[in-house]
Amino acid sequence: MSSVVNDTRIPNNVDLSSDKRLQRALEEWQPSFVDWWCEMGPAGFQQDDVFLRTAISVDHEGWAHFDYVRMPEYRWGIFLADAVPDRTIGFGDEMGKPAWQQVPGEHRTTLRRLIVTQGDTEPASVEQQRLLGQTCPSLYDLRNLFQVNVEEGRHLWAMVYLLHSHFGRDGREEAEALLQRRSGDADKPRILGTFNEPCREWLSFFMFTFFTDRDGKYQLLALAESAFDPLSRTTRFMLTEEAHHMFVGETGILRVVQRSCELARLDPNGDVRAQGGIDLPTVQKYLNFWFSSSVDLFGGEVSSNAASFFASGLKGRAKEASYPDHVALEGSYSLPHLENGRLVDKDVALRAAMNEVLRDEYVEDCQRGVDKWNRTIKEGGSDFELKLPHRRFNRNVGLYAGQRYDVEGNPITEAQWAERAGSWLPSDADRAYVASLMTRPVYEPGKMAHWIAAPKQGIKGRPVDFEYVRHAPA
Ligand SMILES: [Fe+2]
Ligand SMILES: [Fe+2]
Repeated sequence: MSSVVNDTRIPNNVDLSSDKRLQRALEEWQPSFVDWWCEMGPAGFQQDDVFLRTAISVDHEGWAHFDYVRMPEYRWGIFLADAVPDRTIGFGDEMGKPAWQQVPGEHRTTLRRLIVTQGDTEPASVEQQRLLGQTCPSLYDLRNLFQVNVEEGRHLWAMVYLLHSHFGRDGREEAEALLQRRSGDADKPRILGTFNEPCREWLSFFMFTFFTDRDGKYQLLALAESAFDPLSRTTRFMLTEEAHHMFVGETGILRVVQRSCELARLDPNGDVRAQGGIDLPTVQKYLNFWFSSSVDLFGGEVSSNAASFFASGLKGRAKEASYPDHVALEGSYSLPHLENGRLVDKDVALRAAMNEVLRDEYVEDCQRGVDKWNRTIKEGGSDFELKLPHRRFNRNVGLYAGQRYDVEGNPITEAQWAERAGSWLPSDADRAYVASLMTRPVYEPGKMAHWIAAPKQGIKGRPVDFEYVRHAPA
């Protein structure tokens, strides 16, 4: 295992002190990062002690260290998964050649763009979530929110390390710009649409960590295959942290639907809203919104960029080794195209369909979570079933953008859409109702907001009523 240096300003396992120029550049970026964190990170909790996990190595058993930390003092470090000895390129035109330790000149601009786009999502999500602490349903949830936030901050560090170490002056400028853009800002928005969507309440937060962080997982899996070895190693370690974010989303929604069923049983008419809970049809609408927004993040169904990323070895498929053919020059992918109001299957060259191949894996993975929620709903005595909408539903990117489809993926007219959209997507009234349940935070250890069930267990062997966040005396 590569050795870890924890006693410097920037914990790392990349032997940072051997490259003084790089070390100095990153040490100069560090205060700007902390300024950004204090300005745009969790509002109102910067002085509190939070029971957080910090990455201190990449070793399987021991990387996660748990302790109370004040967030601005979190040890954001640079960690790459261990190198695979003699790693070769696993797909595309360069298949079998040695993986790159340096950026090839001809791929410099494209690689930088890929890294910046990934890097931009990390601070964006922290910005989207910055006010959520003020309406948290419990200290347990508050801690989980902050865990996700500090790790997104670390993911930004991971991308900034690559920019600084491999892209010279342009890389340093991009690293600065990553701290300048702001989620939802009209003049300097974050790069990708979903990361400019407001995430004002906890139902959206749980949906975001389930659906949008899972997009992150698939992007990271695809980048983990990259011929550019430092990117591969960085993203492999990021994936271990990402798993917790999706856990937060999956169990968060699970606890919402569990509580929803409990409240339905309490009400003589089965009316969950009358009991102050979130009814399942509303959960479904939020699911429809966040799923459709997140599938957009995979990009166009037919994409010459995706084809060239694959050809040149920049970005593979998730778990590339599980595919029989790593060149993908033969074969095609059948994609329905809308023609005169009807869907007609058309074959697309497989390489051009790589975004869709990745989206396939993503949709399947999302379905597994939805199945778990449905089991909980069934156990709760309801026959309501949550469903993923069709991937063509409500799209703003790709082949189906600007077209109208119902949640089953059937083409519909603009008039039909106008009539039915309110039954598929959260209305202003739905959003106002959900927000009205979450006007006050719950800070008492072990207590839960009325609209959510308690988790089955606490964090790292601590009980659910552990004081996960200790409020600093004013
Ligand atoms: Fe991340
Ligand atoms: Fe994440």
